[in-house]
Amino acid sequence: MLRSHTCGELRPDHVGSEVSLCGWVDRVRDHKGVIFIDLRDRWGRTQVVAGPDSDAATLAAARAARSEWVLRVTGRVGARPEGTTNPKLATGAVEVVADRIEVLNEAETPVFQPGAAELPGEEIRLAHRWLDLRRPAMQENMLLRSRIVKIMRDHFDELGFVDVETPMLGKSTPEGARDYLVPSRLEHGSFFALPQSPQLYKQLLMMAGFDRYVQVAKCFRDEDLRADRQPEFTQLDVEMSFVEADDVMAVIEGLVQRTAREILGLDLPLPLPRLTYDECMERFGHDAPDLRFGLEIVDLTPLAGECGFRVFRGAVEQGGRVRGIRVPDGAGRFSRKDLDGLTAAAVEAGAKGLVWLKCEADGSWSGPVAKNLTDIAAGVRDRLGCQPGDLALIVADSFAVTCKALHTLRRRLGAELDLVDPKSLNVSWVVDFPMFARDEETGHWAAMHHPFTAPKPADVDLLESDPAGCRAIAYDLVINGSEAGGGTIRIHDPAVQERVFHALGISAETARERFGFLLDALRSGAPPHGGIALGIDRWVMLFGGLDNIRDVIAFPKTQRASDLMTGAPATVEPKQLADLGIRVVAPPKPPTP
Ligand code: AMO
Ligand code: AMP
Repeated sequence: MLRSHTCGELRPDHVGSEVSLCGWVDRVRDHKGVIFIDLRDRWGRTQVVAGPDSDAATLAAARAARSEWVLRVTGRVGARPEGTTNPKLATGAVEVVADRIEVLNEAETPVFQPGAAELPGEEIRLAHRWLDLRRPAMQENMLLRSRIVKIMRDHFDELGFVDVETPMLGKSTPEGARDYLVPSRLEHGSFFALPQSPQLYKQLLMMAGFDRYVQVAKCFRDEDLRADRQPEFTQLDVEMSFVEADDVMAVIEGLVQRTAREILGLDLPLPLPRLTYDECMERFGHDAPDLRFGLEIVDLTPLAGECGFRVFRGAVEQGGRVRGIRVPDGAGRFSRKDLDGLTAAAVEAGAKGLVWLKCEADGSWSGPVAKNLTDIAAGVRDRLGCQPGDLALIVADSFAVTCKALHTLRRRLGAELDLVDPKSLNVSWVVDFPMFARDEETGHWAAMHHPFTAPKPADVDLLESDPAGCRAIAYDLVINGSEAGGGTIRIHDPAVQERVFHALGISAETARERFGFLLDALRSGAPPHGGIALGIDRWVMLFGGLDNIRDVIAFPKTQRASDLMTGAPATVEPKQLADLGIRVVAPPKPPTP
């Protein structure tokens, strides 16, 4: 090694010893001819000093050094003089008095200083990711990720799981997103699909007898990106044979507990709470609710159906619902402008409007439509449990729209009213999902999880008669209002698999063409099996208390699914396209500068 110690290692115990450090120049200061260099590596920072006592070459090198140059410093550890120690720095009691400074490499003036308190915009950070990753905060995120993945690997290794790699070049595995396609050179017009998940391969591994499978798996989904989604992300993918849902959940609960203890020092009691999907939608309007605060949704439909207010009664007459949220002490906290903002948010989420009511000192309501609601004023107050000073927010619409609008308001209020303790961790299961949901674009039934999910035994016969009422053996892990994992017990009976394909409008021919290998394998001795996949990127975000998925991925993509550093995706040589038998219809875009 070119060094004897790291830049985070030296302590008063080392005073007097001869050391060599290597690292990047974080900062250089010239104090009346004495040069101080903060030398940085991934372990920390150490102050290096060169002064009038140093030989001329060392002093000259110290003077020449600039931000982000790479140095090797040899010298003696000294105690910092009284009054100059830095208690905020682990190495802040000592410094290295340089005998020799070697410049291992110079650096051009960096686009931004990794050590500076002020950050440039994210685009600049992404375009110069290698500099961004030098920042201590980013290095901590990557180390946290590495620790979390190690805990996962240890956990599953101890439980006898086998790590098996599955192909990147395969056939489409539907998880509800668009595929990333890779053209075949040898069979023009044919394409591989990058995996949306290893779902089918892991099921085939169960049919092959591996019994317990785990993989840190790259997944690719071409979908609209959000703060917690990337087109290329990583799952901790798990599958088990001869299990029921409780067995898979118990294995994951052990992992959650271990991770909370080792990463956050929190003791999480088990078993984790479970909510049904229906309960989630009723109480929170969403299947991954943030359970760290209240603001639960209250149903006002029975009252509203009787009332004189056209908006409410009309919604109920059309089979919709009238539901609301009580915001304790909310009446005084929101200006007219704030309430307009909440109304706009509800409308953005699909609602036709938002009724807000302030509970006055005498228990009466005030607000733009309060006078229309006199007949149910007392009922609304009692159902919501409103006290003087509270605010009520009410939406009338289809059940789905009330869910979406009130969930949006609830989440926004949770943040704006500081209802969440950032240190708290809520981990819960959501179970009993419906098998199917209507695809909003096509109107057809789509699998809520994926088409290989088993229906609850009691609901199997609803596959044909009442698909909407058919529930799945499915479980999602929700951490602080984020879907951190999801899994199901799978279909192992080929006849049931065919019925589910049928319910999804997949003809027998199409099923054979797309999933023939699965149907054949199901007919060749398939054990009962099930599993789950955890979103590793989201786990790192959640356990790190971060809100941007790009901060836990070394080389992430932007919201437009591009890599600002390498310029991917990019046009290719005409020869490459010709080899693949591909002609591009759209004219190529000019390269981004
Ligand atoms: P699912 O589609 O629910 O299940 O994915 C599992 C978990 O992966 C994470 N995740 C993502 N993370 C970042 N960016 C994305 N675009 C993204 N999409 C999903 C989430 C999610 O809970 N094969 C099934 C699992 C199974 O049934 O075993 C599957 O992929 O945290
Ligand atoms: P309108 O009669 O449409 O002007 O609406 C009267 C009030 O009711 C306005 O404050 C609207 O924001 C609100 N409103 C209208 N439609 C709905 C709805 N579906 N749910 C809740 N509030 C609504």
